[in-house]
Amino acid sequence: MRKFLISILSCAAALVSAPSWAWDDGMTPFVVSPDAVVERMLYLAQPKAGERLVDLGSGDGRIVIEAAKRFGARGLGVDIDPRLVNLARDRAKQAGVESLTSFEVQDLFETDLRGVGVVTMYLLPEVNLKLVPRLLAQLKPGARIVSHDYDLGAWPFDEMIELALAEKMVGSNGRSRVFLWLVPADARGRWVAEVPELGGRWHFDVAQEYQILDVQVRAGGSNMVVRGARLRGEEIRLVVTGLVGGKGYNTLFAGKVTDGRIHGILRVSDGENYKPIPWKATRQP
Ligand SMILES: C[S@@+](CC[C@H](N)C(=O)[O-])C[C@H]1O[C@@H](n2cnc3c(N)ncnc32)[C@H](O)[C@@H]1O
Repeated sequence: MRKFLISILSCAAALVSAPSWAWDDGMTPFVVSPDAVVERMLYLAQPKAGERLVDLGSGDGRIVIEAAKRFGARGLGVDIDPRLVNLARDRAKQAGVESLTSFEVQDLFETDLRGVGVVTMYLLPEVNLKLVPRLLAQLKPGARIVSHDYDLGAWPFDEMIELALAEKMVGSNGRSRVFLWLVPADARGRWVAEVPELGGRWHFDVAQEYQILDVQVRAGGSNMVVRGARLRGEEIRLVVTGLVGGKGYNTLFAGKVTDGRIHGILRVSDGENYKPIPWKATRQP
């Protein structure tokens, strides 16, 4: 971290097109994400028109402004530095996206993230780690988080893009990394599905850490082999192989986890073709 701060101190002036100024100790300094990084961040987050996006530590406002210009997202940028908030407001006005954007002087640990679809950030690693409980507690399943350069510790990312940038003078070797996480639904517990086409009742016991699932499946009195169990926001997928009533099945279960129910389509292979069958499961008390 010390190395990171020293390298920022030595080259921040060259990096920022907006004015640069001193920062308080321990606080993420103002360093802009290069345009190519902003583009990748938004590409991974895919904000929808009208969706709420928050940039935590918004600097000159470039992410919020670009999200409004290119995607029609309703963006909020929060920054601890009032001069940067004023600068961001001016830039939003110049870009003609004043009505879609707002910028507030606020400590990012106090920003209300409920109802927000996309969170973007370019913060120091320890700040990211401190934010994880808040992100998980306040964001809804399916919300996207994108971070420039630093990950979220134990929470595995869903996607990552690495790009080389001539203008990148902080971080590692002129490279930027852009990470994406989807807030996972809560899929923990015991689920039961009635699938008459596949021998009757199926039981799923799901343990979950972030979006990674450990699933035990029983059907027709047999334990099944489970592969690739994973959540992507509310979307659950697992491949189940085994014998039910003496008949072999190789089945892809896909569905959406909402309010204690899973709805979806399973695809069962008879060795040649995949037959789609609607399925639903309910969580047992
Ligand atoms: C590395 S800059 C990122 C700017 C912009 N998000 C971008 O990617 O171009 C981090 C910003 O976070 C702001 N910041 C640092 N600590 C903060 C805090 N506790 N609350 C709000 N903003 C903070 C800094 O003032 C700075 O503008």
